[in-house]
Amino acid sequence: MTASRITDHLVGLAGALPDDRSFWMPPQVSTVAQGVDWLFHFILAISVFFFLLIVAVMVVFIIRYRRRGGRAAEPSPSHNMALEVTWTVIPLLLVVAIFGFGFKGYLDMSTPPANAYEILVDAQKWNWSFTYPNGYVDADLHVPVDRPVRLVLSSQDVIHSLYIPSFRIKMDVVPGRYSKAWFEATQPGEYDLFCAEYCGTSHSDMIANVIVHPVGEFETWLEKASNFLETMTPVEAGRKLYQVRGCQQCHSVDGSAKTGPSFLGIFGHEQALADGSSVIADENYIRESILEPQAKVVAGFDPVMPTYQGRLSDPEISAIIEYLKSLDTTTSEE
Ligand code: CUA
Repeated sequence: MTASRITDHLVGLAGALPDDRSFWMPPQVSTVAQGVDWLFHFILAISVFFFLLIVAVMVVFIIRYRRRGGRAAEPSPSHNMALEVTWTVIPLLLVVAIFGFGFKGYLDMSTPPANAYEILVDAQKWNWSFTYPNGYVDADLHVPVDRPVRLVLSSQDVIHSLYIPSFRIKMDVVPGRYSKAWFEATQPGEYDLFCAEYCGTSHSDMIANVIVHPVGEFETWLEKASNFLETMTPVEAGRKLYQVRGCQQCHSVDGSAKTGPSFLGIFGHEQALADGSSVIADENYIRESILEPQAKVVAGFDPVMPTYQGRLSDPEISAIIEYLKSLDTTTSEE
């Protein structure tokens, strides 16, 4: 947390911030956020009320009915109809009300409006990718404000969970099936997206930003972002792909080993492989390692990389190769 965010938070505690952030809750940025918070506070208030009531009565009874010398225990009454009906009916009404509100909220949250904008979400260890209707893929979730967005979620490997606190939505992403979630953002800005299901070593790094674009700006952004192969040099485009397509979660560019080998200074050099042989890391080797990661695994690393077959186009692979070429040990960057 940067200093300015801490200050923001403290100012927020004092109630001086214009947004809906509170001491306990992130800002309310979706159409369902208020209802979710209301039900949460309703249940919390009931719990606090009964906790205090029960503890208070318990303490009074402990003191008042304690065993004292010279007093015999009185026979306890067998039955008190009025009391028993009261403490059955009131909680019954409360849980029925909680169920009613919760069920209605659940139905609303599981039924996206018919005109919702659809974005495909792909989870894998350990990054998110978001595919827009024109085929463009980004590592962050960009959405228009005031428009229902439907997410279709799938996982490449294990169970992940998409969690956007400010929208009050959380949805498990299970391998072998599609999950769905939807929301309508109500305020432009940048918000956090987390993985909320422990999915291995870098689970806590499986984060992304949600960018809610102001009215009219989402389409412009999408158009501009989608043309990056034409508007950027191959090295720049390769760097962008490295950042947004999940490479950087496992491959550093500074020489340090992560889940996979670093990309720094490998191009054109000999790589020792797990089976004892070796290979020169040329264009074809890198292409093969992207499409068939298990074919020639570098010595010292586990064969855990997912294939990018069908997920990266040939021009994209070429751009990534150009980027790797640029990562020479003599001109290291980032
Ligand atoms: Cu993915 Cu935790």
